[in-house]
Amino acid sequence: MIGRPAAAAERLIVALDLAEVEPAAALARALRGSVGLVKVGLELFIAAGPAGVAHIAEAGVPVFLDLKLHDIPNTVAGAVRSAARLGAAMLTLHAAGGAAMIAAAREAAETAARPRPLLLAVTVLTSLEGPDLDAIGLAGPAEAAVLRLARLALAAGADGLVCSPREVAALRAAFGPDPVLVVPGIRPAGSLADDQRRTMTPAEAVAAGADWLVIGRPITRTPDPLAAARAIATSLAA
Ligand code: C5P
Repeated sequence: MIGRPAAAAERLIVALDLAEVEPAAALARALRGSVGLVKVGLELFIAAGPAGVAHIAEAGVPVFLDLKLHDIPNTVAGAVRSAARLGAAMLTLHAAGGAAMIAAAREAAETAARPRPLLLAVTVLTSLEGPDLDAIGLAGPAEAAVLRLARLALAAGADGLVCSPREVAALRAAFGPDPVLVVPGIRPAGSLADDQRRTMTPAEAVAAGADWLVIGRPITRTPDPLAAARAIATSLAA
């Protein structure tokens, strides 16, 4: 299982939110040694499949497979085995799939491959607000649902959580230093405004207790992604 990041650069997970595998693999090659992992999400995975993931992995950067699994325990266990065989270093699943689903995922990860993928639970999607949560039956403040689902996921065997920067401090206060916290919604100081809201800078998120930072466009949509990644790592080391 991948260990917690030691150096600042290792904290960076670059989101390869692209539809085509070749530019994604080229980015991974360019960033090798200057970031901790690259993240492959649904768009790229559905376009390029396991062969695309294998191609990206050839760059030599560990791959975070962000597929947010959510199905019956037996199906998710099979998906985790397949992801482990692909060499995924991290994998996401929805805490709302329930304790049995997460326990089955953990057991599958333990038995499928060494080193096993780190299992990260997604609690409440940050795209959902009050009325959306009411509509899907998650009444009450979002923070309460986040804590409830986080507790369930960690007790059932998740290694950690994907969470927004604004949730990090509360999750650390509730669960201590053990759970791995992987945090998107990060914007380096001076970034251009985009669709991310309630962001934190890399240094703020780490100070709050984040282990890894998921950063996409502030690295990938710049003329020099390697320079952008290095500048972020430097801002963390300072
Ligand atoms: O380009 P940007 O830095 O916004 O990319 C952030 C990545 O993290 C994207 O892949 C996005 O899907 C993911 N993510 C997020 N917020 C969440 C969960 C995942 O931005 N709550």
